[in-house]
Amino acid sequence: MSIDRATRTQESTSESSETAPLLEVSDLRVRFSRRGRHVHAVNGLSYRLRPGRMLAIVGESGSGKSVSVRSLMGLLPPTAQVSGSARFDGVELVGMPDKQLRRYRGADIAMVFQDPARSLNPTMRVGNQITEAIRAHSDVDRARARERAVELLRLVRLAAPEQRFHEYPHQLSGGMRQRVMIAIALGAEPRLLIADEATTSLDVTTQAQIMELLLDLQERLNMAVILISHDLGLAASYAQDVIVMYAGRAVERAATADLFEHVRMPYTRALLGAIPVLERQAHTLLPVIPGQPPDLGALPQGCPFRPRCSEATERCSEEPPFAEHEPGHWWACWHPATDQEEASA
Ligand SMILES: Nc1ncnc2c1ncn2[C@@H]1O[C@H](COP(=O)(O)OP(=O)(O)OP(=O)(O)O)[C@@H](O)[C@H]1O
Ligand code: SF4
Ligand SMILES: [Mg+2]
Repeated sequence: MSIDRATRTQESTSESSETAPLLEVSDLRVRFSRRGRHVHAVNGLSYRLRPGRMLAIVGESGSGKSVSVRSLMGLLPPTAQVSGSARFDGVELVGMPDKQLRRYRGADIAMVFQDPARSLNPTMRVGNQITEAIRAHSDVDRARARERAVELLRLVRLAAPEQRFHEYPHQLSGGMRQRVMIAIALGAEPRLLIADEATTSLDVTTQAQIMELLLDLQERLNMAVILISHDLGLAASYAQDVIVMYAGRAVERAATADLFEHVRMPYTRALLGAIPVLERQAHTLLPVIPGQPPDLGALPQGCPFRPRCSEATERCSEEPPFAEHEPGHWWACWHPATDQEEASA
């Protein structure tokens, strides 16, 4: 069902390819410098995201997924140097002074993280936390904000919202707390919601419910969503587009069904290789690929995946460009798999 749904959604939103992108990231780079050592956490990332679309960013731990989105919101420490471009609704975010960026953060662009227990204030009733978030971003009085908070708790399908409004975070389950976090994020009516491993700590059933909720909100509110996940099944089930990251770079990017059916890049193949086709649709965490993820402070010459790649040749000592080799399908590799190889793998 999952990949079918991605295909359907892709078809149903194909007209939206005419819509202007909400977010346009070009050659985004983030470098951390400490005592003369440079770590290139994000290295030339480019993508576009349109309203009403969900983009999944997947990759091993340390591949730069979180840093890439945090850099858009000015949520990195001062040791980070960000360059390139990230235009949100035509406005450049890279280099924007923090004071100005704060107007976007939590407002037009909202984020939901993995651990709602840590993001919520334990000493404040959840309803008041949502009310405050609403009032921080709009000029409504307390009574109207409270009404809206209850509406939001209903929108995120929290049972008995009026009662939950008066409860403290510890009185709620993990799934309920994540719904509250989403309600807080929605309080500002964001146009882009970034979910960074937002369902990772939840059990599979709750995870699916939260993802269904995000999908529903994305469609109903025409919101753009970036889903950051270790879970390939989640990406396949819900996102319309997928970017696979390795060593701070996008190494393969395509519409979900295309990517999962016509894998080109050996790294993506390795990610999928250990997973039987049917299970690709279930919730499947990234398998462990032999070898170590690269040290971002001392990358090998050429293709960063080279030391772990079974297809590597001499040519791979030169870095392959990330380019659109087939319509809508981008990859960075000198020796991409063909459909025949994929079928016999
Ligand atoms: N504040 C920092 N100072 C120095 N290096 C950092 C900092 N934050 C992140 N990094 C480095 O940037 C790289 C990318 O980190 P990032 O958190 O984006 O990875 P990720 O893909 O989100 O991984 P995970 O799946 O584990 O969340 C890592 O190598 C990390 O060590
Ligand atoms: S460019 Fe070479 S080393 Fe890199 S993924 Fe492709 S085959 Fe492997
Ligand atoms: Mg992360």
